[in-house]
Amino acid sequence: MTALISATGLWTPKDSISNQELVTAFNAWSDNWNAEHADAIAAGELEAKPQSNVDFIVKASGIKSRFVISKDPILDPEIMAPRIPERPNDEISVLAEIAVNAAKDALAKAGRQAEDIDAVIVACSNLQRGYPAIAVEVQDALGAGGFAFDMNVACSSATFGIETARGLIASGQAKSVLVCNPEICSGHLNFKDRDSHFIFGDVATAILIEDESIAPKGAWEIIGSKLVTQFSNNIRNNFGFLNNAAPEGIGDDDKLFKQNGRSVFKEVVPLVAQLIKDELDKAGVAPAQVKRMWLHQANLSMNTLISKKVMGKDVDMDMAPVVLDEYANTSSAGSIIAFDKHSADFKTGDIGLICSFGAGYSAGVIIVRKT
Ligand code: COA
Repeated sequence: MTALISATGLWTPKDSISNQELVTAFNAWSDNWNAEHADAIAAGELEAKPQSNVDFIVKASGIKSRFVISKDPILDPEIMAPRIPERPNDEISVLAEIAVNAAKDALAKAGRQAEDIDAVIVACSNLQRGYPAIAVEVQDALGAGGFAFDMNVACSSATFGIETARGLIASGQAKSVLVCNPEICSGHLNFKDRDSHFIFGDVATAILIEDESIAPKGAWEIIGSKLVTQFSNNIRNNFGFLNNAAPEGIGDDDKLFKQNGRSVFKEVVPLVAQLIKDELDKAGVAPAQVKRMWLHQANLSMNTLISKKVMGKDVDMDMAPVVLDEYANTSSAGSIIAFDKHSADFKTGDIGLICSFGAGYSAGVIIVRKT
């Protein structure tokens, strides 16, 4: 049995934060903090908090703004974090709600009814609870059949989710699998850390993967795929059910996103470029035959370098489209947003690839051909 990508869906929060808004809030917080700790700073006991800078952010990352679901508290120097009210158990949880929004978009594009779905996978970095699985809640809210489960491979969750869906279709467990990537990345971001406060945004995407017997005309055949992981502490978040409060001597920022950005850059670029090249080779596709690469959206220079290593030359935005400027890093959803927004011009037989990479390290490549 062969699995195809029938459609993708996208839900974008209505509020967006520009770099200038973010930097203004950060600098006000840093000024307040420095004034409050002026004596200790003067005595050399504490280091003053630095100022952030809009030009640095654009130059280092390519990010110009990010969508968020809780704008005002993030920009309040007294809070500097999203405030998303907890909901009672008889209300849909916020993660399930945004997954459903993206799922409905994908279903409408494929002309598929929710009751025809056999399996729902919520594949994302930032699950809001342990159980019941968010995916089971999404299944219920949509009125889908079959079964559902959550999985987390950080930024690579979408490609790993697509492969898992293919496996379910190949084994006969399901014919129509919905993979949702709801990412409220602002929840784990440390808005008081100058080196990373600009990195993430919130969004939800969905991918409908179906057996060839039911996939709609124009679906995307998967002609090659490869997943890889390699342990690294360079991107890490220690929050968990056994460790949700910081122990003595360790600041609360231990339970938020942390990275060694430079090391990530250096180690992940060659890993991903090689992964793509090997998989294209295995699928019998020459780089010149690839019309577009929908890459994970974490850093513009990283994508430029990966594209160059794969293609053997500089590539333009048409070859490797960027949504990072508007959305920032949205973890697993990034490459799917790029695919969703930049694939309508593909004609039958055109080849492209979806590629994710991130914490773990983890990376996945899915080579697709338009039917
Ligand atoms: N405003 C102004 N200056 C800043 C700043 C900010 N917001 N943040 C950092 N700086 C300063 C640093 O303190 C440093 O100063 P120094 O040289 O005096 O020490 C300088 O700018 C360079 O910082 P650095 O962190 O080395 O920048 P960089 O060019 O490596 O870019 C990242 C940082 C994070 C954008 C980049 O490394 C990256 O994107 N890496 C990959 C990250 C990734 O893919 N992560 C996956 C997440 S899932």
